[in-house]
Amino acid sequence: MIELKQFHREDFSRLIQWVPNARFLSRWAGTNYVWPLDTQQLSATLERTYGLRPPHYMFKVVDSGTGESIGHIELVQVDYVKRTGHIGRVLVGPVECRGRGYGKQILSKLIAFAFSELGLKTLTINVFDFNKVAIACYTSIGFRQVEFKKNVQQFGNETWNQMLLQLNRTEGKTI
Ligand SMILES: CC(C)(COP(=O)(O)OP(=O)(O)OC[C@H]1O[C@@H](n2cnc3c(N)ncnc32)[C@H](O)[C@@H]1OP(=O)(O)O)[C@@H](O)C(=O)NCCC(=O)NCCS
Repeated sequence: MIELKQFHREDFSRLIQWVPNARFLSRWAGTNYVWPLDTQQLSATLERTYGLRPPHYMFKVVDSGTGESIGHIELVQVDYVKRTGHIGRVLVGPVECRGRGYGKQILSKLIAFAFSELGLKTLTINVFDFNKVAIACYTSIGFRQVEFKKNVQQFGNETWNQMLLQLNRTEGKTI
């Protein structure tokens, strides 16, 4: 079992260590961060999470069995009027923890928070089309593709395509 806990300044260094190179950073966070990820960029994001009904939530993921932090997830662009939100920066940090079901559990917890606690009705998530594990993770939970954008991001001489996936409140599967 896992829990989502509020992400704080003391969690910065662990998250930074989980991002090994510029390509991984781009795949994980799109153009939201520039390499190398640092405390200054994370501080700027963290500031958006302050106050009542913030537009942005940052969570660390804690394995309840071991008490260890094993991941990260964010809920961004929360619109309390339209009742929409966008999921971003999903990460199972330690490489050896990937492919063991954590990703689906993290998504499920975030979805429960967004739908039950915040009362949102629709969630979206962006993923690059080559990120097959992430796509399997999101579609397995119930997300469906609603948009495909070609050539949205350049990395070196690679040009990346992006899928926008969406989940409506009634469609999610419970894990
Ligand atoms: C993407 C990520 C969050 C998924 O979490 P995870 O714990 O590795 O994935 P899960 O074990 O929950 O598996 C999710 C699905 O992917 C499949 N999967 C897992 N590892 C796989 C692999 N190596 N190859 C193919 N499919 C795989 C699982 O079978 C499962 O699908 P299913 O329910 O249809 O069986 C994680 O791999 C990660 O942090 N990757 C690096 C950062 C990243 O790319 N983030 C996403 C940005 S959009």
